[in-house]
Amino acid sequence: MNQKSPNKIIEDLGDGLIMRSAAREDADALAEFCSQVFMHEESGTEAWWIAEWIRDLTSKPHPTLNIDDVIIVEDVEKGRYASTTTYLSQTWTYDGIEFQVGHPEIVGTHRDYRNRGLVRKQFDLMHRWASERGHDVQVVLGIPSYYRQFGYEYALPAETNLHAPITSFPRWGNEKRNFRLRETTIDDVPFITRVLNASNDRSMVSPVFREDEVKYLTFDRHERSAVCHKTAILCKSDGDNFGDPIGVLMYAMTIAIDLGVMLRVEMTEPRYWREAVPALLKEFVELAEKATKDANDPDREIKTVRQDMQPDHPIYLFDEDALGNPPDRQYAWYVRVPDIPRFLSKITPVLERRIANSIHAAFTGSLKIQLERKGVILKFEKGKIVEIENTPSMHWEEANARFPANTFLPVLFGMRSIDEALDAHPDAKAAPKSDRHLLETMFPKRSSDLSLTLT
Ligand SMILES: CC(C)(COP(=O)(O)OP(=O)(O)OC[C@H]1O[C@@H](n2cnc3c(N)ncnc32)[C@H](O)[C@@H]1OP(=O)(O)O)[C@@H](O)C(=O)NCCC(=O)NCCS
Repeated sequence: MNQKSPNKIIEDLGDGLIMRSAAREDADALAEFCSQVFMHEESGTEAWWIAEWIRDLTSKPHPTLNIDDVIIVEDVEKGRYASTTTYLSQTWTYDGIEFQVGHPEIVGTHRDYRNRGLVRKQFDLMHRWASERGHDVQVVLGIPSYYRQFGYEYALPAETNLHAPITSFPRWGNEKRNFRLRETTIDDVPFITRVLNASNDRSMVSPVFREDEVKYLTFDRHERSAVCHKTAILCKSDGDNFGDPIGVLMYAMTIAIDLGVMLRVEMTEPRYWREAVPALLKEFVELAEKATKDANDPDREIKTVRQDMQPDHPIYLFDEDALGNPPDRQYAWYVRVPDIPRFLSKITPVLERRIANSIHAAFTGSLKIQLERKGVILKFEKGKIVEIENTPSMHWEEANARFPANTFLPVLFGMRSIDEALDAHPDAKAAPKSDRHLLETMFPKRSSDLSLTLT
């Protein structure tokens, strides 16, 4: 490996190991390292898709990642990398209120160095950065049961990962092509940004899209990166010509595994879900056929289409069942909120809006919520939250509501209703009925689409 000598040491971990920030010169060696660490164990295939992803992140500027926030643990005695993580800094929205997010990604330790606490060290560092930088929330889309030990809990829905055979899609016949997909150009970036941000209304939580981020998502990733996708613009059409743009499709054709992917579909106006979804699906079939033809390999053909959209996405009202049925279960994002009272203060306008539209609009009083052993007391005057008090301890009998460990997080982020949290955890509580209803009002269950989180 052609490694750069360490120049930005963060901590000496002993045993010849140092933790340091990466430099641009690390890009190729880090790509090689990740291709080994994330190797597909069963087939022995090196993870070239992660290699290209980390090379993108480290070799050139990225809208939400500073090169100093790519962490490397290096064995300086042996001259090799031991472990790595990147920490992306993003802005997301909670029902219209922006908040700052820290997002660890590409977390990996070489087999020779596992179970020695190297990832724990990197998470300690990232959590320090989070508090120094005022990041309200950290999120990880990661392997099962690993991140709870670092203070995370599953609290936001991941992609549905629903699969359908492409043979169930409708196909163009002789009818006029009233909507057509065209390729994206750089001039489309403001349009795509606008459409994505407008679609955030459908989500409790979502990333805020900025034009430089959308440009990066659309044009700046290596085509073999694990997170690379294409974007097409759905336009009105008279059959041959492209008219006004009315929607966007984010998709990928992974011909090596015969898989098409629909990551995201959005329309400029709700009417187009009914009018344009059938045409969109027919156009997708043609994209898949083109990918198959371009592969020029008799063994390869796009056969299945994975979808990342949430089950309540409007496309599922107008697909005539072409896309299949929603899955029974769905994976989730791990979320950490180091200071819940501070986060509640930030989203107070949203909570007050929910209260104002409810039976509790004139409520004056307080609500005591026990989170593990600590407590939060919300004080209300005529439906307004006038104080959020953080108490270092609260007795369980004193609380109106009780959420053990981090079980409040899925409620806070709309993934689980109060009822579901109470059913799942016998030691949780929300009583009396009036307070339980107030909690349900403030924290309704609602879906979130995080499918285009910028990494
Ligand atoms: C998962 C992985 C990142 C862990 O790295 P690591 O450096 O061994 O992690 P740490 O030693 O810091 O882990 C902290 C603790 O979790 C334990 N642990 C390690 N792997 C674990 C796993 N898969 N599940 C649960 N606990 C695990 C460790 O033993 C350690 O326990 P301790 O604090 O009681 O000693 C590493 O095994 C890896 O790179 N795997 C392949 C790539 C991958 O799956 N990455 C994660 C993508 S989200």
